[in-house]
This record gives sequence, structure tokens and C-alpha cells, in this order.
Amino acid sequence: MAFSTSIPHGGILVNRENHSAEALKQAEQLPALTVSDWSISDLELIGIGGFSPLTGFMGKQDYETVVENMRLSNGLIWSIPITLPVTEEEAERFDTGETLALKGVDGVIYGTLTLEEKYTVDKEREARLVYGTIDPAHPGVKRLYENGDVYLAGPVTLLNRPNHDEFAAYYKDPKETRALFASLGWKTIVGFQTRNPVHRAHEYIQKSALEIVDGLLLNPLVGETKSDDIPADIRMESYEVILKHYYPKDRVRLVIYPAAMRYAGPREAILHALVRKNYGCTHFIVGRDHAGVGDYYGTYEAQELISTVEQELGITILKFEHAFYCAKCGNMATTKTCPHGKEDHIHLSGTKVREMLRAGQKPPKEFSRPEVAEVLIKGMKVHN
Ligand code: ADX
Repeated sequence: MAFSTSIPHGGILVNRENHSAEALKQAEQLPALTVSDWSISDLELIGIGGFSPLTGFMGKQDYETVVENMRLSNGLIWSIPITLPVTEEEAERFDTGETLALKGVDGVIYGTLTLEEKYTVDKEREARLVYGTIDPAHPGVKRLYENGDVYLAGPVTLLNRPNHDEFAAYYKDPKETRALFASLGWKTIVGFQTRNPVHRAHEYIQKSALEIVDGLLLNPLVGETKSDDIPADIRMESYEVILKHYYPKDRVRLVIYPAAMRYAGPREAILHALVRKNYGCTHFIVGRDHAGVGDYYGTYEAQELISTVEQELGITILKFEHAFYCAKCGNMATTKTCPHGKEDHIHLSGTKVREMLRAGQKPPKEFSRPEVAEVLIKGMKVHN
């Protein structure tokens, strides 16, 4: 079944924002807790409705059902716990029933949390069930283990949106993207998650999707990523360049996705899809090893897992096989469309590409558009 309108996950688009001067003044009087950028980005996504129907950080009951069965306690699909981890000492400073101000590491008060519950969890179990591994070398698992041992839960209010600096022009909340799609007359919209520059394989699957839907939401994740991923500011410039040179203007919109990357592979693919549904997408692309890292997940494991919940998710998943350039075909292809062998296929690993870019070498044009490669080489020089 294809979905032609996008109903927010759980039925209602949440908004938990209050930007009044008075609310901020009141928050200044509250006991304050300083939390990581990661937690601020979760707060933001709850506040603006990207994580609808969540209205706060998850309590133990939702946490348990999400970890165990990929569902909220009311039965709705949700694949990754959204929690607020703090140290034991921090947790002891607050009592349940109390409202606290949530500060970023920059000292800004971004919101408030009405503390309903404090609980501890078995992190190794969370790692195994959510990430599929307990290996501390996995970036998401590493982060989980480094986080405090107590989770604070309760409803939140977003008082200040993080300013997103140079990306501000590409910021839209889910209500705004929905209005944008309506104003463009788009009825079917495919969402594309990425934490990389757009390479030819990405372009190929996006354009294959564009053959059957009205518009593309290029929705790069710009929150925290692992240190060897290409920084978001360089990526943003590369998106501007590729859109300018290779995409029809009236069929694509670039909007940032301000979340942190979990690298949870299959489970994160589900989260990515339901968030894009909240942003108003009717379709979502899941390609090879979506949100994967290293060898932790099988190439099509994300597609397999999301297929088991697709009907309930309420967004059509467009699954693409591993795409490559075939020298014999003279075009981009997958094994679904190309009869030739591996020796004719141009494939470069992400690591190899980053090495080339750092050395100032352009990857072949069959892999990356030359305009994109130029931006990346220039950007890597500045960052090194
Ligand atoms: S991700 O962590 O955000 O998933 P990436 O930016 O590399 O990483 O991928 C964005 C989307 O493109 C994902 O759906 C991924 O599965 C898909 N993808 C990436 N490379 C390929 C490829 N060569 N062939 C098919 N799909 C791909």
C-alpha cells in the first residue's frame, strides 16, 4: 500500500514550545541541569514535533517496551529510546515533581523538564537490543556506556531553539515543511536521510524515487556525528552545489535534520522514517546499510527490519539495492539492472574516499560529481 498523505506518527503533530520572555524568566529561577548537545538536540526534536507523539523524555515503561519490542507502551511503533541520561550525583540533586531548567554546555537555557521519574537501566541490554552489539567500539554503544547511569523522565518544554548558525536558512520545523509541501502542490514527498555528501549512488536512488513522487526532501542530519564523518558545514556546501548543478530546482528542498546520529542501523532506519513522516514525507528511502557503521549490520538488515513494521509505520519505504557505476553499462545501476560483474563496477569505500579527499585527490567522476569533490577537498583543507 502506498501512502498519499502523511499523518503525524500517533495522529497529532506535537508542539512543546514556549518562546515567551516570561517563560524564560521563570526558567531562570529553576534549579538547572547542564546536559550534552546530544540531549539538547533530542529536546529540540521533541519540542518541534519531529519526535511526535513524544512529549518528553521516556519513562521506564515506554523505555522497556521500546527496547524490548520497538513499541511505546501504548503499542505505537518506536524503535530507539529517547532518554535523558545523567550521573547519579546529578540525579540526586532533583526530586520527582520538580521542574528543572535544561541548560546546554554553552550555558543557555534551552528548555524545562518536569521530572516525573528517575530510573536506572541495564545498559548492556540496551546496547544488545537496540544496537545489536555490546561492543564499546561501536560509536553509538560507546556513547551509551559513557552517558550517566540514571535516566530522568517527564514532559519537556522547548524555550529556545538552538540557533544552528550557518544552517539557519535551511531550518524548518515539521509544521513548516508540511506547509511548504502544500504550497508547492506536492502530494507525494520522498525523504532522504544522509550523514554524507551526496555521491552518485545517493543521487541515483534519489532520482529514481523522483521518477515516481512529486518532490524530494533532502534532509541531512547535522547533529552530532562520529569524528571521522565529514563535518556538516562542508556537507551543506556540497549539497548546495550538487542541487545547483544537477537537480531540477522545483522538485527538491534542502532542510536540515537537527538530530544526533546513533549509528543503530536497522533500528535507526525506523526512527529516521517515522521522523520524516512527521515532517510530512509520504515516502522514505532506505538503501544499503542504512545508518550503519563498520561491519555491525548486514547490507540489507535495515530494509528487512523496517519491512516488518512498514504497514504500521504509515510511510512508504522505498528500498534500494547497493548502487554503483558500471563501466560497461556506462551508467549508474544495481544488480537489478546490470548484468556485468564486479570488475566493471566502480565502488569506493567511505574511508578510501575520505583518504583521497584529505590528500587533495578528486574521486573519479563516476563516484562523485566533480563540483562536489572540489567543495569537499577545499573543506577538508580548512578543517585539517
Ligand atoms: S546514513 O548513515 O545516513 O544512512 P549515508 O548518508 O551514506 O548514511 O546514506 C544515506 C542513504 O543512502 C541511506 O538510506 C543509505 O542506505 C543509502 N545509500 C548509501 N550508499 C548507497 C549505495 N551505494 N547504494 C544504495 N544506497 C545507498
